[in-house]
Amino acid sequence: MSHHIAAEHSSASHHEHENPAALADLLERDAAVAGGYLDDASAWIGTHFDSDPEQILDLGAGTGVGTFALAQRFPTASILAVDASRAMLNHVTDGAAAAGLEQRVRTVECDLNASWPDAAAGADLVWASSSLHELSDPDRVLRDAFAALRPGGVFVAVEMDVLPSFLPAEFPPEAPGLEQRLHAELTALGWNAHHDWASTIAAAGFTSLERRQFTTQATSPTVAPYAGAWLAKMRGALVDRLDAVDQAALNALIDDDAELARIATTIRGSRTALLARRSAAADQQN
Ligand SMILES: C[S@@+](CC[C@H](N)C(=O)[O-])C[C@H]1O[C@@H](n2cnc3c(N)ncnc32)[C@H](O)[C@@H]1O
Repeated sequence: MSHHIAAEHSSASHHEHENPAALADLLERDAAVAGGYLDDASAWIGTHFDSDPEQILDLGAGTGVGTFALAQRFPTASILAVDASRAMLNHVTDGAAAAGLEQRVRTVECDLNASWPDAAAGADLVWASSSLHELSDPDRVLRDAFAALRPGGVFVAVEMDVLPSFLPAEFPPEAPGLEQRLHAELTALGWNAHHDWASTIAAAGFTSLERRQFTTQATSPTVAPYAGAWLAKMRGALVDRLDAVDQAALNALIDDDAELARIATTIRGSRTALLARRSAAADQQN
């Protein structure tokens, strides 16, 4: 659920210095607050199978929020969580142990920019949520995903459409519109330029593309700490790009849990999922 980079498909400019613990915390909070899309998307995916998928691949699994949602939706499936970060995969392993899913959830540490995991063949479903935009060569990874799917198998990519919003437009009273300015600055840095993977997916050989948008509009006490994690991430990226008034307002909000809880009560956001199939029919012709 990180930002998106349309043109270069490269994470290097923003991610290489990202603190893994902070990212893991943000991913977990995201799932807790906005994770309704996981239920909705996995239910939608299920309608594309006559019988539940047995082998699932989670590309760029992070802490495993998608892995566990799919494990819950498809109770006989085995899931291979792939990530370049051992720290992330440790969360997956720990989560699997806590949920009694050790027999069904495996991890493989693999930098998808450099290679494709051998263990990933014969999948019924490949899921890539908020991860394609981080890859240096998503075209190649999608071709590898196509090859790893059995004929008739399904590929799903999910990306955020917009950065999540938490603050009212009139905040702060002395200079309304802080969040809009933060998002505008981040957009100028290449964040949240949502890439539409439809043509890349088609070029890899997939057909029957479908698209579904999942919106989040939730009010809950857990919004504030999630908002705080996002605002801190934004502040880190916008050092020297905010004027003194905005910098002070942002600092005051991040440093004051009670004020944050009063101001950031609602999250608004949306994600789009693209689903496509490795056609069984096309395979027979080849
Ligand atoms: C924004 S997180 C999304 C995690 C998870 N899919 C979710 O929706 O919460 C992106 C993940 O992709 C992983 N990643 C980035 N580049 C990668 C690469 N080259 N190979 C494998 N994983 C990568 C990161 O380590 C991170 O865990």
